[in-house]
Amino acid sequence: MRIHVADHPLITHKLTVLRDKTTPSPTFRQLVEELVTLLSYEATREVRVEPIDIETPVAPTTGVQISSPRPLAVPIIRAGLGMLDGFVKLVPSTQVGFIGIQRNEDTLQPETYAKRLPEDLSNRQCFVLDPMLATGGSLAATVDYLFEHGAQDVTAICLVAAPEGIEAMRKAVGDREFTLVVGAVDAGLNERGYITPGLGDAGDRLYGTA
Ligand code: PRP
Ligand code: URA
Repeated sequence: MRIHVADHPLITHKLTVLRDKTTPSPTFRQLVEELVTLLSYEATREVRVEPIDIETPVAPTTGVQISSPRPLAVPIIRAGLGMLDGFVKLVPSTQVGFIGIQRNEDTLQPETYAKRLPEDLSNRQCFVLDPMLATGGSLAATVDYLFEHGAQDVTAICLVAAPEGIEAMRKAVGDREFTLVVGAVDAGLNERGYITPGLGDAGDRLYGTA
């Protein structure tokens, strides 16, 4: 597993506003979108491209285009949906598959309630979107599913991660091709399995249900 922790003042600044409990939902949603776009730049560093011949107004030249099969973005519903527009803005040709997982707040175990993805993911580069990596249960279940269906490599983009979740992902992915791109690594989990200091319940803050 490779891990990249963003080290950029603009990202830390935006995360600070996101964490602030007085930040209202509309601003929270806007910041999530902006942060994803910034993190996606790093997350797509290894996106596969192929050469293409074009003509500029001045001369013929060779550039690159994103290869087929196209990258697949996989937001984990619900909170991950708030990250989709920001990713698609950077990679408009991406395809999108959806997975719905809710963490059982008593056991902290992930419960999958929806899946709508291409059946065959052979040779796919997948980009999983979820703002929070807490125990790692939800992300590990998603990444397992993608690899079991043929994904070639998987990159997860998370805004905030706990060290416990990062460790759990290391164990879960073993030697498979997995990269984690995060905006910040926080101190740890509290007794309710929430990231601390974190930003609270990302889904509730995105959709105003707190
Ligand atoms: C949150 C978050 C992750 C998960 C992280 O979703 O968006 O999917 O918790 O926790 P874990 O690492 O311990 O699995 P939640 O279950 O609250 O569902 P929601 O997105 O529908 O709000
Ligand atoms: N899910 C969240 O939304 N926030 C946390 O801190 C942990 C899990």
